[in-house]
Amino acid sequence: MRVFLAPMEGVVDYLMRDLLTSLGGIDLCITEFVRVVDQLLPARVFYRLCPELHQHGRTHAGVPVRVQLLGQHPEWLATNAQRAVELGSPGIDLNFGCPARTVNNSRGGAILLTEPEGLYRIVAAVRSAVPNGFPVSVKMRLGYEDKTLALENACAVASAGATEIIVHARTKTEGYRPPAHWHWLAKIKSVIQIPLIANGEIWTDEDARQCQILSHCHDLMIGRGALALPNLPAVIKKQQSPINWSQIKDLLWQYTTYDLQHEKSRYYPHRIKQWLGYLRLQHPEAQCLFERIKRLKTTDEIVEIIKG
Ligand SMILES: Cc1cc2nc3c(=O)[nH]c(=O)nc-3n(C[C@H](O)[C@H](O)[C@H](O)COP(=O)(O)O)c2cc1C
Repeated sequence: MRVFLAPMEGVVDYLMRDLLTSLGGIDLCITEFVRVVDQLLPARVFYRLCPELHQHGRTHAGVPVRVQLLGQHPEWLATNAQRAVELGSPGIDLNFGCPARTVNNSRGGAILLTEPEGLYRIVAAVRSAVPNGFPVSVKMRLGYEDKTLALENACAVASAGATEIIVHARTKTEGYRPPAHWHWLAKIKSVIQIPLIANGEIWTDEDARQCQILSHCHDLMIGRGALALPNLPAVIKKQQSPINWSQIKDLLWQYTTYDLQHEKSRYYPHRIKQWLGYLRLQHPEAQCLFERIKRLKTTDEIVEIIKG
């Protein structure tokens, strides 16, 4: 069984990837999306979203980090995919699931799920631009407004040469509202020959097992669950005990010291509150801490409290 860490724009950046992969249990990370329109992006754009490219596309714990591209033009996606791999990405992931209106209005993200031939063209172009041996994965949803094209989309992507498919078990219209429809993944799995990775609404070890049973997938991708319980991947994969609040406080401090050393530190107040927003789903102590910092605006004030 493999566990992937889900891409989460504005939340799971290289600092968070470093921290979470240091806890074990994660086999692969996928970056926040790199938006591709109609040009070859400069190397600095890739390095900004994926500084791990400077260290052979791996986190400090040695976990590979695959660059994700979001766009709609096959040729530009292919050219940028080639560049990402040249810069050190150990493969490419294509985003066919983003629900954001601005992205969908310019025909990127989940809107592409309304047109299986379009998906085929994109994956085929990217596959032929990326050297053999480098995976090209696709991250999609069950559909845009409904699930009628779910199987056709998966077949299109597989026949265009994708190495594996990650499916967030909801449509774009279903957004992030529970439940995730894991049983739909079993239908997809029955019509494709490449690995399928199940994603959506896995918060506990029990959810993971239930998802595996209903989806018939061994491999899982976890997003928000890993922010709420940072060692969830190791709990699921290695039967580790969930880490306790005192260990989480250490992680919050580690994250703080990490963050303040980097150029993105001006976002620290927002980011630490955002993470506590997920942690409080599993830990009542995080709720208390959140209450104490939620109105504070400056880094110094917040750091004083986190230092505790
Ligand atoms: C804040 C946020 C940002 C996200 N950003 C991305 C992204 O950049 N690329 C992507 O493919 N999915 C993105 N997603 C979707 C997640 O990767 C994942 O599919 C979704 O959260 C369901 O998994 P979960 O229930 O384990 O969180 C994002 C989700 C959230 C909540």
